Amino acid sequence: MSLNVRRILTSEAEAYQLLRMEGLIRHPDCFRIAPEDEAALPLADIVKKIEAGYVLGGFQDDVLVGIAGLSAFPGAKAGHKALLWGMYVREEARGHGLADQLMDKILQEAKRRGFQQVQLTVIASNPRAFKVYERWGFELYATELKSVKVGDAYFDEQLRVRWLT
Ligand SMILES: CC(C)(COP(=O)(O)OP(=O)(O)OC[C@H]1O[C@@H](n2cnc3c(N)ncnc32)[C@H](O)[C@@H]1OP(=O)(O)O)[C@@H](O)C(=O)NCCC(=O)NCCS
Repeated sequence: MSLNVRRILTSEAEAYQLLRMEGLIRHPDCFRIAPEDEAALPLADIVKKIEAGYVLGGFQDDVLVGIAGLSAFPGAKAGHKALLWGMYVREEARGHGLADQLMDKILQEAKRRGFQQVQLTVIASNPRAFKVYERWGFELYATELKSVKVGDAYFDEQLRVRWLT
């Protein structure tokens, strides 16, 4: 099996969005974004997102099975901070190191761009995800209680930071 991680091309926006939607639909308790909100986005907005941020694809035998994105916080006073978002590896491809490869490249790029910290949020009842984040040095600095509501269920969110300086 060959694994490869590289930037998603704008011509791959549709494949990227299909995989993202798959993650949001299969794992409503792992993401703060609702599938119906994401589905409403036109393809042109996805292309803009890919152009504006740093969006990675993880390929297993040339099939896109993993994604992760990095974006700067907007504004002159927040430009030293980046957000890691939308990390997803298709269930069948998990446990083979793709999450690590995505994370390694994201952090290398964050350093290259001079960010001083990378923030992320993760649902507190998602240990599989936060184990990966802990392994890569993302410290827990706060928990937002009842941050996400899915039907009648509430989920707390961990706020984590990886210092780069
Ligand atoms: C989060 C995600 C990208 C990680 O990818 P992965 O291939 O599963 O990651 P890894 O196998 O490298 O590491 C997962 C860790 O969780 C552990 N794990 C596996 N299954 C688990 C389970 N059911 N419960 C708790 N931990 C579990 C693994 O042993 C490993 O721990 P380790 O670091 O001690 O070895 C992937 O699981 C995923 O896409 N999940 C659904 C979407 C999601 O949660 N995205 C993150 C949103 S913030």
